Amino acid sequence: MIKSGEIILNENDINPALDLFTEIEKLKKEKNAIILAHYYQEPDIQDIADYVGDSLGLSQKAEATDADVIVFAGVHFMAETAKILNPGKKVLLPDINAGCSLSDSCPPHLFKRFVDSHPDHLVISYINCSAGIKALSNIICTSSNARAIVEYLPNDQKIIFAPDKNLGSYINKVAGRNMLLWNGACMVHEIFSVSKITKLKERYQDAKVIAHPECEESLLSIADFIGSTTQLLCYISKDPCKIFIVATESGILHKMQQSAPDKILISAPPDNACACNDCPHMKLNTLEKLYLCLRNESPEILMDEQLRLAAKVPIDRMLALSRELNIV
Ligand code: 13P
Ligand code: SF4
Repeated sequence: MIKSGEIILNENDINPALDLFTEIEKLKKEKNAIILAHYYQEPDIQDIADYVGDSLGLSQKAEATDADVIVFAGVHFMAETAKILNPGKKVLLPDINAGCSLSDSCPPHLFKRFVDSHPDHLVISYINCSAGIKALSNIICTSSNARAIVEYLPNDQKIIFAPDKNLGSYINKVAGRNMLLWNGACMVHEIFSVSKITKLKERYQDAKVIAHPECEESLLSIADFIGSTTQLLCYISKDPCKIFIVATESGILHKMQQSAPDKILISAPPDNACACNDCPHMKLNTLEKLYLCLRNESPEILMDEQLRLAAKVPIDRMLALSRELNIV
């Protein structure tokens, strides 16, 4: 039981009189905590976060922070990456069930068999994977640096790329490689309807389609620009075009609209009756859960030390390569 003024609260009760923004700010100072949030989080969480970014930016912030507590408003693999980089800090995830369909599409015991059957291949894994997959990999990458990392390696280097087949085949195409791809995908980026987007383009003839490389090849082939979430955000601010059809999770429209208020942003329509492109995993986190996890210091990410050390090696390589190649 926790006492808050006159009201006795259970662990998950919130005094309805509280202003959660003020309370979260107070708790942050009290606990020397930092809130890192991905662009796919709900707007309130993005607005209270100390840093909002893509997977690379979030890993770089997690590596550099001197806070004692990291609240990671994102999904499990992201918070786990922060813990791998910061074993001495408390890493909290507002909803411990916030997983990732892409990460789940690559179970470590099956991936190990795949890797073992190709001993002459270097293993590059997209950061959207579990610590078990990272521990089986040589280098981690994100959508911001995947192309640069692959191009940094000699042309004749044999490579396994996991778990996202869409990002992998996009890199194969633009970098002229023939990497072996694991057959994984993100449930959010595979639902967009190319025919509905094409119809939208007929209606808004000046609109540009921008897409995340986790989307399928059929969509990427009609995109005017392809990039990580941060790259998409920067593109909208800099490009003179006024209307954009955005093929990625809808949470990023919040930051896009803040950074380019004069632009018209249309969420790319999915191939189903649902009008939103929300990631059900990302959206498990709420402002209430964020407040509770900071107050209760739970749920916390805890890891086996041997696994942490093995998973850290390829993440450190990515961060070092990103510094060397000047990718932020
Ligand atoms: P980035 O933000 O790194 O582009 O990744 C998108 C994503 O799918 C995160 O889950
Ligand atoms: Fe995973 Fe896709 Fe959700 Fe990102 S958007 S967390 S890749 S399911």
